[in-house]
Amino acid sequence: MPVKAWLHCVDEKEEQTSRINEAVDNLIKNGIELQPRDTCLTNCPGVIFTSEMTPALCEQLRHLSRNGKIQVLACCLTSIPADAAWQLMEAGASDVLTCSECSKLVNEIMTRLHRWEKVDQMINSPAVKNTLIGGSQALMSILREVVEVAHFTESPALILGESGTGKELLAKLIHTLDSRPDKGNLVVLDCSTIMSGLSGSEFFGHERGAYTGAISSRDGAFALANGGTLFLDEVGELPLNLQTQLLRVIQEKTFKRVGSNAWQRTSFRLICATNRDLKAHVQRGEFRADLYYRIAGYVCELPPLRERPDDILPLASHFLKEQRPDFTPPILDIPVQEYLLRRDYPGNVRDLKQVIDRLLCRYTGQGSITMGCIPPDDRPVLTTCYQDWRDAGFDRAVRIALNRGIGLQAISQSAKETAICIAMNETNGNLRQAARLLGVTDRALQMRRAAQRQVQ
Ligand SMILES: Nc1ncnc2c1ncn2[C@@H]1O[C@H](COP(=O)(O)OP(=O)(O)OP(=O)(O)O)[C@@H](O)[C@H]1O
Ligand SMILES: [Mg+2]
Repeated sequence: MPVKAWLHCVDEKEEQTSRINEAVDNLIKNGIELQPRDTCLTNCPGVIFTSEMTPALCEQLRHLSRNGKIQVLACCLTSIPADAAWQLMEAGASDVLTCSECSKLVNEIMTRLHRWEKVDQMINSPAVKNTLIGGSQALMSILREVVEVAHFTESPALILGESGTGKELLAKLIHTLDSRPDKGNLVVLDCSTIMSGLSGSEFFGHERGAYTGAISSRDGAFALANGGTLFLDEVGELPLNLQTQLLRVIQEKTFKRVGSNAWQRTSFRLICATNRDLKAHVQRGEFRADLYYRIAGYVCELPPLRERPDDILPLASHFLKEQRPDFTPPILDIPVQEYLLRRDYPGNVRDLKQVIDRLLCRYTGQGSITMGCIPPDDRPVLTTCYQDWRDAGFDRAVRIALNRGIGLQAISQSAKETAICIAMNETNGNLRQAARLLGVTDRALQMRRAAQRQVQ
């Protein structure tokens, strides 16, 4: 099956050129559909060939991978030290291959490109796109990992994150993407609501007459999840005695119903979620370390909304659509958008959803959602800082650049390139509209883009 990718050769030493050409020819024979390397508009993965590690290579990687947003495979035709390979990863490479044998290299490149394409397809499928909304880099890189773990493995998953960040939603998505043939159901058990007297029955089920009131036999969560997924929500609330029992089932995959002597087999994927710092619980002896390492096959930490502001407006549009499914969702006026981007969300996405509900209460149904829709208690207090567009994220990025020894000129240059990239993306590549957004002439923008391409 053909796979789309761009190829780029960083160093042009004569002795390497023929090997690189051979690799490129083989890749094309193996079904690579070569794509243009226009980093502003393509989300296509790529391969960089090089024979040595240089600061210029790292810069190019940073640029071509858009700081790690796009999958780029760095292929070194000679071996490089581990430190240098880590630097390439840090600069945005998704993987580093060092290999001197061309045929092996081509195979390894192809398997990675196929995997990335499959992951991309899943990320862009309705099952994912219509469930977990947001396009921030933080969410996208988590989604990439989640999709791979969910689809290509049966590994247990532990989802961490503050309240309202979407842990339950993610657990359901993992179950949806699970590729086990004829997989069973998703069984959800909220550990914070289990009453200790009845916990045995909730987990293990019981036989008829096992205790007073047990008028019929009943399956518990372990039996119901057989062949499917068991989602233990709020796992940090699980009492120590239940942790011990759970550990046995996970290890042995067998259990007994309350009141029965017969062992029953079960097999499920385990997903756990908590907003607690589970490692700190382990250190304090409140959570069994052996259980922690059993449930934490793959650990995913959903970042709070304040760390992924790019998700706020897409989520807001999604909730507007969700609330008024029969109507075209109203547009948010620019000051309302800015208000949403600036406010705090202690309850994360759940909080944002409630804000949208409150905005809709005052919305008349005509035109866009205006500042008057913001309830008086929610309105911001005007400060000088509110009028400044440079926020903590901007300061943080500049500080990181300065710490890395990047000077004023390169920082200004990067800010300009980022602005051009954003404007081109926002206008779907329409040069005229992008130039208007940037406040420059079409010609000036054209020239800047041409200069940018030359540097690459
Ligand atoms: N990325 C997202 N896209 C769409 N809806 C989301 C997203 N993240 C969270 N939500 C919505 O926000 C609300 C809270 O999500 P969820 O219940 O999954 O959070 P949680 O982390 O499990 O919270 P808690 O710790 O309080 O149980 C739900 O209505 C969910 O549908
Ligand atoms: Mg939850």
